[in-house]
Amino acid sequence: MQPSNVCWSLTIWMVQLALIVLTVQAENCTKPIGGPNMVLSDAFITQETFVDGAKVTFQCAIGYASTGGSPSVTCTAGMWSDVKLTCGRKSCGSPGEVMNGRFNLSEGVLFGDKAVATCDTGYMLVGSGVRTCMDGGWDGRVPVCEVVKCGKPPNIVNGGPAVPPEDTYDYGSVVQYDCEKDYTLVGTKSITCRENGEFQPAPPECKMVSCPAPVVENGVRIDGRPPYTYKSFVTYRCNAGYEMEGQASLTCEIEGWSAPYPTCKAENCTKPIGGPNMVLSDAFITQETFVDGANVTFQCAIGYARTGGSPSVTCTAGMWSEVKLTCGRKSCGSPGEVMNGRFNLSEGVLFGDKAVATCDTGSVQGYFALSSSLSELNAFLSLSCDFLVFHKAVHL
Ligand SMILES: *[C@@H]1O[C@H](CO)[C@@H](O)[C@H](O)[C@H]1NC(C)=O
Ligand SMILES: *[C@@H]1O[C@H](CO)[C@@H](O)[C@H](O)[C@H]1NC(C)=O
Ligand SMILES: *[C@@H]1O[C@H](CO)[C@@H](O)[C@H](O)[C@H]1NC(C)=O
Ligand SMILES: *[C@@H]1O[C@H](CO)[C@@H](O)[C@H](O)[C@H]1NC(C)=O
Ligand SMILES: *[C@@H]1O[C@H](CO)[C@@H](O)[C@H](O)[C@H]1NC(C)=O
Repeated sequence: MQPSNVCWSLTIWMVQLALIVLTVQAENCTKPIGGPNMVLSDAFITQETFVDGAKVTFQCAIGYASTGGSPSVTCTAGMWSDVKLTCGRKSCGSPGEVMNGRFNLSEGVLFGDKAVATCDTGYMLVGSGVRTCMDGGWDGRVPVCEVVKCGKPPNIVNGGPAVPPEDTYDYGSVVQYDCEKDYTLVGTKSITCRENGEFQPAPPECKMVSCPAPVVENGVRIDGRPPYTYKSFVTYRCNAGYEMEGQASLTCEIEGWSAPYPTCKAENCTKPIGGPNMVLSDAFITQETFVDGANVTFQCAIGYARTGGSPSVTCTAGMWSEVKLTCGRKSCGSPGEVMNGRFNLSEGVLFGDKAVATCDTGSVQGYFALSSSLSELNAFLSLSCDFLVFHKAVHL
């Protein structure tokens, strides 16, 4: 072998060696990138490149904790191994119990969640009602719910709270009112301290209640006497012949009497009964009832004439006034002179009487020398005098 050849071979060998060294010298790693919610551990934060084989660790970010996996990764030939670490939000646990209130935990109790406190009805939040779950637990402190307070209850005239009032009252407190003597409590007796810090409803009023004496014409008071104050009562009855409409008993209430005054209405009359020999005038014959104050007239029956008294009667409270009318039989006067004979007038010449003529002995039987004409005879008949004998004579 020639020395030049040896030298050439050596050169080639050295180049080959250099190539091997270059290949074996592995690449460095750049800063590794972690998974969600984690950071590089403090020791590695400032470093920018990491030599082959270097090991770095991750740690969970503030508010997060490891939920599994190794925190470290290794640099091999310029590549980091997979990040196995996983981080979850830390739990703060219970934010505590709110007296007279409660937390709304709908968001949850993990890092970043908010617990919002609300107070029960009648209670008021003092300070902040929100706690936030931080890395080190809940911030702030358990909120306080203070009872709502009302001030002095309102004053009223002629009355006031039953017991001397206090300066403040807790929510739900009840204050009762009383009225002074002779005054009536109108409205609600007690008021309550409500969640808005005010008493409700409005306090009562104290009123002097008085009712006037009722006026009931044709009636009489049978129970209760004035003066009429709150809850006094009075009862009426109607006089005879009057009928009551409305309520007989009334009670004196705050707004006045409990009902309108009763009224006494005169009763109606039935058909009136007349005296002897008279009848109701035609206008009233068909009527059956007659209102109070109605006038009706009687007239004498056929063959009778008025001999005195007023023909009318008046209906007053269901009763007719006395019938004053009197009716007597009508008179027919003289039945005339009978020539050669005479009338027997022993019955009389009034309605219904008969005048019987007899002829003198020796006169012609059935001869009647009547001075009056036939028409005058009819006039007698129209007066209802019944001349039986004449009838026969006329028809002879
Ligand atoms: C890797 O880093 C080391 C130390 O900083 C350095 O000496 C070496 O040259 C680097 N290697 C490469 C291939 O850059
Ligand atoms: C709790 O809060 C949520 C969101 O603010 C709301 O929708 C929900 O009605 C609340 N629940 C109660 C019981 O107040
Ligand atoms: C009397 O009669 C009138 C008319 O028919 C009637 O309106 C009234 O109610 C009656 N009165 C009585 C007290 O019955
Ligand atoms: C009934 O008669 C009397 C006296 O006779 C009279 O005062 C009254 O007004 C009369 N009534 C009616 C309703 O006609
Ligand atoms: C008249 O009539 C009456 C009764 O009919 C009789 O009793 C009387 O005797 C009569 N008188 C004369 C005078 O005829």
